[in-house]
Amino acid sequence: MMKVLIADKADSICEKILKEKGLEPVNKPGMKPEELKACIGDYEAIIVRSATTLTADLVNAAAKLKAVARAGSGVDNIDVPACTAKRVVVMNTPFGNTVSTAEHAVAMMMALARHIPQANASTHAGKWEKKKFEGVELTGKTLGVIGCGNIGAVVADRALGLKMKVLAFDPALTPERAKQLGVQTASLDELYAKSDFITYHVVMLPATKGMLNKAAIAKMKKGVRIINCARGGVMIEADIKEALQSGQIAGLACDVYVKEPATEHIFFGMENVVATPHIAASTKDAQVTVARQAAEQIADYLLAGKKTNAVNGKDL
Ligand code: MLT
Repeated sequence: MMKVLIADKADSICEKILKEKGLEPVNKPGMKPEELKACIGDYEAIIVRSATTLTADLVNAAAKLKAVARAGSGVDNIDVPACTAKRVVVMNTPFGNTVSTAEHAVAMMMALARHIPQANASTHAGKWEKKKFEGVELTGKTLGVIGCGNIGAVVADRALGLKMKVLAFDPALTPERAKQLGVQTASLDELYAKSDFITYHVVMLPATKGMLNKAAIAKMKKGVRIINCARGGVMIEADIKEALQSGQIAGLACDVYVKEPATEHIFFGMENVVATPHIAASTKDAQVTVARQAAEQIADYLLAGKKTNAVNGKDL
């Protein structure tokens, strides 16, 4: 029987489907890299979320490995070239957590606009600081969406429903798709200059690494509010801190960090930062969907050679 390692915490549907398909799931979340390296050779497939980093060292130790599934969209925790070199297919589940992630970004935007986390903490502390928490409206404001793929498009749709104007920057966004979404396309510089809120929905690539930096911030409106539910690596965190201190950035809502888990951070304790621990996709709904998809995709590949959402499919 082919063995599938579930290396991160995944909804129980994952194990159930693998069993039903006649595979042998082994549910062992939270292993240290050394422990994983010692047993990785036993498995035909591995399912991960974001906690496990599948390095080239681990992939090369996985003698029987045929497939890796990421229950989620970002594959930046998997050494895809190392997998490709070993003819291991890497699949993600890019649509399963789209709505949850987009909804978190919208919730973060509202939290920023109305200081909800700070007002909540203050009210619980019995302070009744009515004047301190004056916010801003979203209606009529411009939201800049950087990266208008699956998640960015849902954020844009929800923002239009809130009567915001939406500018989108995405080299892959065609004029037809922009028209269909009801957004206006913009260059990055135009988006920076016109947006009251900016939200990032890009994947981690050399081109997006550190794109939210001092030079970009200098082109933004003074008092811009920024939401990052994409990847921490998009930000040069020290540049953002400086801009939060000077008021160039009025507020940051951040779900992702350069180094995770982030138990200490230069943003923590800042009044104008709303921080969450990479939970944008953490809803019951999304986790059931991505766990089911990951299990089905692995079973389809191991049992029938069918590749679904293979990020390295064309290179194998
Ligand atoms: C993803 O890439 O799917 C999200 O960031 C969710 C996650 O990593 O847990």
